[in-house]
Amino acid sequence: MCGIVGYVGSKDAYPILLGGLSVLEYRGYDSAGIALVNGKGLEIHKDKGKVDHLRSITHDVAGRGCTTGIAHTRWATHGAPSKHNAHPHTDQHDRIALVHNGIIENYSLLKEKMLKEGIKFRSETDTEVLAQLIGKYYEKDLAAAVRRALLEVDGTFGIAVIAHDRPGVLIGARRGSPLVVGVAEGELFLASDASAVVAHTKDVIYLKDNNLIELTPEGFDTTTLDNKKISPEIHTIEWSVDALAKGGFDHFMLKEIFEQPETIYNAMRGRLLVSEGVARLDGLNLVLPELRGIRRLVLVACGTSWHAALVGEYMIEEIAGIPVEVEYASEFRYRNPIIEPDTLIFVISQSGETADTLAALREASYKGATVLGICNVVGSSIARETHGGVYLHAGPEIGVASTKAFTSQLTVLALLTLLLGRMRRISNSDGIAVAKALEAIPKQVRKILRQNDTIREIAKIYAKHNNFLYLGRSYNFPVALEGALKLKEISYVHAEGYPAAEMKHGPIALIDQDMPSVVLAIKDSIYDKVISNIQEVKARGGSVIAVATEGDREIEKHARHVIYIPKIIPMLSPLLSVIPLQLLAYHIAAQRGCEIDQPRNLAKSVTVE
Ligand code: AGP
Ligand code: GLU
Repeated sequence: MCGIVGYVGSKDAYPILLGGLSVLEYRGYDSAGIALVNGKGLEIHKDKGKVDHLRSITHDVAGRGCTTGIAHTRWATHGAPSKHNAHPHTDQHDRIALVHNGIIENYSLLKEKMLKEGIKFRSETDTEVLAQLIGKYYEKDLAAAVRRALLEVDGTFGIAVIAHDRPGVLIGARRGSPLVVGVAEGELFLASDASAVVAHTKDVIYLKDNNLIELTPEGFDTTTLDNKKISPEIHTIEWSVDALAKGGFDHFMLKEIFEQPETIYNAMRGRLLVSEGVARLDGLNLVLPELRGIRRLVLVACGTSWHAALVGEYMIEEIAGIPVEVEYASEFRYRNPIIEPDTLIFVISQSGETADTLAALREASYKGATVLGICNVVGSSIARETHGGVYLHAGPEIGVASTKAFTSQLTVLALLTLLLGRMRRISNSDGIAVAKALEAIPKQVRKILRQNDTIREIAKIYAKHNNFLYLGRSYNFPVALEGALKLKEISYVHAEGYPAAEMKHGPIALIDQDMPSVVLAIKDSIYDKVISNIQEVKARGGSVIAVATEGDREIEKHARHVIYIPKIIPMLSPLLSVIPLQLLAYHIAAQRGCEIDQPRNLAKSVTVE
């Protein structure tokens, strides 16, 4: 949830740590802090607020030549955002400092015990308990103290630890929360994700659960928490630091919306065999024989990824004829799901770190299921723990509101549909038709993006409204849900997504001149039914913004505003129809002066339950 950065080497740690924090700020941003070993002991600076605020209160720390340090941006779970709850946390004698991502579940028991021992606490966080515990055990060997303390805690952690008398030593450890080690000549880095180290090195180790790493300028030493030596693999980051810049856009979200022609193309590159009408997904090769025999698919995810899964359900059932169920990961993990031998599970997650999705994947694995993943972040926990899977190759998604990852997920699900469909019931020529339509998508998305100015004007008209309804049917019902979620997340406007026909079973009561409806009125077999739903809205004084298919003039008689998308087969229409909704949400939020990339209360990767 939060961002962790650590450095050990020969350079001034301060700019490296602050630079890393700025990159990671999208992960969590209610407070920020830094700890350095300065020759006399530990120097801690922290406060409520963002990284820029921390920078403004610490600029005199730069250039002092502290070469070992840790830093953190917080997304509070235990204790309100405040200076004393901000990380780093120390033990009562300020001998060790710790930053933590995750939750120490047994913190109150441990705290009670330590309070009885006379240990003084300074915050309400679960994290401080771990800091006090490490401090209690610390004599000369920092790694040993961390190891001993971690054996006593339940819950999840990604941590970075330094000690007052150990310049040149940095300890990292993880269970359930991500931690990446950047490896370079004479210096090493720790971070919650690779984006914070890519400016310094492309060689990284994705630390595994229950592993601890001791870093010094000379190198690293990796062990399990029970002290067995291991040799981790060093991976190379495939994208460059440019991916982390806004590239002339006002916000990462807008940049990511505009990247979609390329990211959709990247998701299908080398995988779509147009002339044969099939898809090749190498990450599924191991389970290919199993794919032929499956009788049921379960797609498990949260949030936007769950919306992508819903579209996947419509695609796979229609084209491949396999029954599909879509589950919220948070429900799946606790409800003892029935998984038969011929059921295959797919977990879908941009970050690959979502706690509920990870737990659902483990639950399905305990039940003996084959679990496959659709992830964006390479080397993430979900990517590693699944039996196979498909990467999105969308590059880092920084905007908290997911956009390009969603369309890449849809692209991968379309490829999967093609693969499964061709194994079962669709012919070569039907396969070719789908493949050709898919191949044309990037160009069509580019065309929709050219309407950005028109969509901005529509947003201006509606920016002051506080309630919206999003309606769609069939493939575009999940798109209605996704459009409403985008608006809620970044503009704090109440929006509900509904199957258009379901509206009359309740939400219609809300409709009046103050509640506009965004209706996905794509030309497909149920287009006429959607037009009837629009009439129902209009009859109650509601305004309609329609997303419709190019060439449909009829719709202009019914809707107050129309945004057109190119003609497309119904199965792939969500890849196009979602784009205007992303832009509409973006411009409404911009009009309302909201902090688009880092909306309040949200975090990019939800690593707590
Ligand atoms: C998307 O805009 C949201 N911020 C959120 O719903 C997100 O999709 C969800 O938390 C799942 O994340 P994941 O794809 O990284 O697992
Ligand atoms: N549980 C810790 C806290 O509330 C860590 C939160 C985080 O991951 O940022 O301080």
